Amino acid sequence: MSVHDLRALLFHSHFIISPIPNVRCKGICSITCNRYELMMDAFGRFGLLINDRVVKTPVALASMAGIVDAAYVLERKEHVGIAFMGGYSIDEPALEAARQMAAGGDRREFLCDDPEQELQKQITLLKNTHVIPAINLRGSTPAAFARLAQELGEGVVYEIDAHCRQPAMVAAGCGEHYLHNTKELGAVIRALKSENVTVSVKIRAGVVPDDRRLAEECWKAGADILHIDLMDFGSAKLRQIRNSCPLLIIANNSINSFDRMREMLSHGADLVSLARHADERTLAGLDAAITRYADEEGWYNSPKQLCRGGDIRALTFCCMPVKECPLIPTLNRIGMPREDYIRMKLGAVEGTPLEQGKQTCFGSLAWCCKTSSPCMFRDMTLKGGNISQKEYMRLKRDLSDTIMSRVFHDLPPDDTC
Ligand SMILES: Cc1cc2nc3c(=O)[nH]c(=O)nc-3n(C[C@H](O)[C@H](O)[C@H](O)COP(=O)(O)O)c2cc1C
Ligand code: SF4
Ligand code: SF4
Repeated sequence: MSVHDLRALLFHSHFIISPIPNVRCKGICSITCNRYELMMDAFGRFGLLINDRVVKTPVALASMAGIVDAAYVLERKEHVGIAFMGGYSIDEPALEAARQMAAGGDRREFLCDDPEQELQKQITLLKNTHVIPAINLRGSTPAAFARLAQELGEGVVYEIDAHCRQPAMVAAGCGEHYLHNTKELGAVIRALKSENVTVSVKIRAGVVPDDRRLAEECWKAGADILHIDLMDFGSAKLRQIRNSCPLLIIANNSINSFDRMREMLSHGADLVSLARHADERTLAGLDAAITRYADEEGWYNSPKQLCRGGDIRALTFCCMPVKECPLIPTLNRIGMPREDYIRMKLGAVEGTPLEQGKQTCFGSLAWCCKTSSPCMFRDMTLKGGNISQKEYMRLKRDLSDTIMSRVFHDLPPDDTC
């Protein structure tokens, strides 16, 4: 189930979750209560769950081999929601490649005789923190990944390193090898999913001829998260990928300022990650800025309007299809007839505060624009309904989740793999 499906489920069912498994408040432990409240606040603010756990902030640590282990994460834990430790080599071909790379002198690697035991140790070190543990893995066969998942279980996110382009690693059938052999990548994803674990795929944009197709393939094979090093491609590439799959997306590469973070979030990312500049000051700045933004605006990763370059989530702000504008080609591309689009939006807001709005252009707030576009008719309706602008944006986020789960209801056809 994607994050959009899950939020759509919450939107329609008033489903209650516990952000910290097995916590029961008896009013005697203020630390546990404070932590519980903190995580409930975070869920209200960002609406993000990974591995059934609330993500405290949409800032992630990206892996750096030989550097990012539990000790490194613990030094930065206050300002990250999830940490990808590693990369760790998990079978003999990958370990041999890592040894060669480390022997070359200019790279650090985690070299251990028993990767399973080492990974267990690292995961355990993060146990009593809010940071969701994830491990970035280099392996050459589906069986190696599946075996590890059998041993380590469901409490950690498994990230397939399809990113490493070091020649020794690629020659060992790991890292970027998987981007040149996407059937093998699909087999690894499927092997992990057969162990019921959460799977992330770390890719570098621009390696395969069509990143949209790659995203679809990962989705089709069952991946949950796409972690994308965007290199120099920027937000246009990210938007293309967002428009191709409902996976949770982590955007990566040089995201060291809030402007850059918002650019990524407004073009389809759910989180951003940092590797080289993951110093405490940068992480704290991003965490504080996105928390403030979410508290003020209501939707921390709101898209731009479709006609201003927004991604598919921006359908939540689109009008009735009555004129020639980017909505029409978008509906054509996703194969949704205009009548279905109208029915979908009106159905999704039925019984919600977005249903009202007789004096707006199209008779319902379902069709109304983003709060950044000034409009007295929308604002009069909001005022009359006692709905704050922040609440309006949250409702639009819920509507966008419903739209996403309808658009990506079916897997892409077989010929894409
Ligand atoms: C020294 C170093 C080691 C890295 N090791 C890995 C790795 O093991 N696995 C992986 O997926 N990415 C690895 N990366 C890539 C980073 O996770 C990240 O994608 C890249 O550095 C761009 O993000 P940044 O601009 O935030 O650094 C490494 C990067 C560096 C600089
Ligand atoms: S329907 Fe409205 S918001 Fe959407 S693309 Fe057209 S003009 Fe822009
Ligand atoms: S009433 Fe205002 S916000 Fe609503 S669709 Fe018209 S212009 Fe946009």
